[in-house]
Amino acid sequence: MDDLAFGGEGVGRADGYVVFVRGGLPGDRLRVRLTEARSRFGRGVIEAVEAPSRDRVGAPCPYFGRCGGCRLQHLDYPAQLRFKAKQVADCLTRIAGVADVPIRPIIGAPELYGYRNKMEFTVARAAGGTVVGLHEADRYDRVLDIERCLIQSDVMNGLLAEARAFFAERKLPVYDQESGEGLLRFLMLREGKRTGEAMVNVVTSAPQVSELAPLADRLRSRVGQTASVILNVNPKKASVAVGVEEHLLAGRDHIREALGGLVFQISANSFFQTNTLQAERLFTLVEESTELTGSETVIDLYSGTGAISLLLARRCRAVYGIEVALAAVDDAQRNAKANGIENCTFLSGEVRGVLPQLIARGVRAEVVVADPPRAGFHPKALRALALLGPERIVYVSCNPATLARDLGELARGGYRVEWVQPLDMFPHTPHIEALARLSRL
Ligand SMILES: C[S@@+](CC[C@H](N)C(=O)[O-])C[C@H]1O[C@@H](n2cnc3c(N)ncnc32)[C@H](O)[C@@H]1O
Repeated sequence: MDDLAFGGEGVGRADGYVVFVRGGLPGDRLRVRLTEARSRFGRGVIEAVEAPSRDRVGAPCPYFGRCGGCRLQHLDYPAQLRFKAKQVADCLTRIAGVADVPIRPIIGAPELYGYRNKMEFTVARAAGGTVVGLHEADRYDRVLDIERCLIQSDVMNGLLAEARAFFAERKLPVYDQESGEGLLRFLMLREGKRTGEAMVNVVTSAPQVSELAPLADRLRSRVGQTASVILNVNPKKASVAVGVEEHLLAGRDHIREALGGLVFQISANSFFQTNTLQAERLFTLVEESTELTGSETVIDLYSGTGAISLLLARRCRAVYGIEVALAAVDDAQRNAKANGIENCTFLSGEVRGVLPQLIARGVRAEVVVADPPRAGFHPKALRALALLGPERIVYVSCNPATLARDLGELARGGYRVEWVQPLDMFPHTPHIEALARLSRL
């Protein structure tokens, strides 16, 4: 194997023919069975590792290889970081077409396991009974029963075990995606890493409050950190863990998390960064990169639940956050209030529509921070940003390919890309986060 592809599959060659192999690592010599053969490349599965890569390690998780979650546990962590840094560098060279952008050494995660503050498990029916777990790799119709997940904390594993036992003991019917019958759909767990408060959110197809209420008593008596037990009802076919109505079974309707000196209220359906400790590092970097002196106006594009806006609000005159999801805007406003922050305005709508409106109203900003979804900027949003012409742009990205595309556009539009900082938010997964700082020429 020569390399790892974007999604973490090994890339090798047999007589010049390129083959993608799940689980293959650079430096491995493998015997592979071809499962798909196209004219330019094929796919294969490992039959034997004839000579392992120097970076191959034993994966600690018993579900590794079958679970769709962590695909790179068998790659030593320093090698995972090298892979991620290389992906960022490759994208900048291939896609951005901006020469000589300094790429800072990648920042590894402070915790390699137990780092997630949110997990979403699917409840499914299997031959042996009810399973509560994660989808198998590339098999969205199959759910693996997960007794203990290593990327969540012991408290969350305790809640998972209690909920699983309760579902089985009570013989609660499991929702069937085909027929639309049955009750239990998802079990979502959240935890404030800094506050220790935990949330259990059971997503069902119907509001069977009396059937689920005893779960709240059980969890509260057996797992002391349980601060919130919620029932979300999703009667629709769409297989999502977001309900149309919510019932509070015990405690508060939210948990709290502390980050960067602020306290955030997180409800069942709120977005919040899923790796608290590394998000805090990322946001500190954002804060430093903005170099605010107190007099600036900042626009936070794709502001989500407002974490970046609220953290920057302490260091500037005013912040405008733009976010399409109404629920996230509500959360951002609530969090501003809870933290006594009065210089943030959150606007709902798409950046490509709202940013031109702000400019038309005469709003100007010295600094823009952007944290778009994987697709990056819409061309109209990028044009509006160029029209606004802030002195500095700090771009946070979870997709190096769209980051590189947008940096290329901004570089052609009069910005210098000063540096790019890769950072690992999700050890053992192929996800790559990066931050770029640009200044107007
Ligand atoms: C990576 S998240 C940003 C999270 C944010 N920094 C936080 O910490 O809460 C991207 C956000 O962009 C929002 N979004 C997606 N498309 C959008 C668009 N066209 N206009 C505005 N917001 C959008 C999503 O709803 C999501 O909240």
